[in-house]
Amino acid sequence: MKLISGPSSPLISKRISEISGFGLAKTTYRKFPDGELYFRLEDQSEERYAVINSLNSSDDLVFLLLALDALSDKDVVAVVPYMGYARQDKAFLEGEAVSIRAVARMLESYASKVITVNIHSEDAKRHFRKLVEIDAMKVIGEHYKGKDIIMLSPDKGSFERVKRAAKIAGCDFDYLEKRRIDAENVEIFPKNLEVENKNIVLVDDIISTGGTIITAASHLYERANNIETACIHAVLAGNALNRLYSSGISRVVATDTVERQVSILTVSRLIGEVLLSEV
Ligand code: R5P
Repeated sequence: MKLISGPSSPLISKRISEISGFGLAKTTYRKFPDGELYFRLEDQSEERYAVINSLNSSDDLVFLLLALDALSDKDVVAVVPYMGYARQDKAFLEGEAVSIRAVARMLESYASKVITVNIHSEDAKRHFRKLVEIDAMKVIGEHYKGKDIIMLSPDKGSFERVKRAAKIAGCDFDYLEKRRIDAENVEIFPKNLEVENKNIVLVDDIISTGGTIITAASHLYERANNIETACIHAVLAGNALNRLYSSGISRVVATDTVERQVSILTVSRLIGEVLLSEV
């Protein structure tokens, strides 16, 4: 097997290559002046390839489409560490596209398998037939092992994920509940735990605009000693990182499914192991 590294995933591709021993194929990728993309696989020597590219923009999707097309006569695995478009996992309004269904159809019309890390929801997962989902919460858990912290989920929806990380870290965990005080005011507080003078880690799957974490943290600053945040996918749209730090979050920790400055943890070993088991 050879690996094809896409434009949004160069670091993780290199790490997966080192861990798995699969070499990186020589490719040409460029953008024309009108914005169209071009892809060429120069190294045609293998029968099996894995294309690695997170889906963090529409160009990333076109890259995947072109790379998979260039590999039409090969056996190809699509590795999409961050599966963007997964939050549109149903038609919320009549007439809406189910974006992740379109992405799933495209990927699976070429790839024999699709590998991803913590896709956003069970609903999103249901649109795939050949998906292998890796759970990276253990990577976050390992990072915090033995540290004097409490892990909090910003909402009940993420609680099960956070629980898995906390069990590995060996720390207490809880989720935040919203209580409406009146028409304009809500209070957000941990369901069971006391957070007075504690070091809090707010854990989520995705940080996009940062709004969820900023809102959750704003209700804890008065009581907690320190608040940091950890996520798997650091989408960090626009100036989200700046907004997070300016709001008082002391540190942002993420994995390398999306490659950012804060992506200090890696899921490359987990992906490498799945690829090795495929050969
Ligand atoms: C929501 O269901 C997700 O788990 C995240 O909480 C959400 O995507 C974060 O988005 P943002 O950073 O824009 O609030």
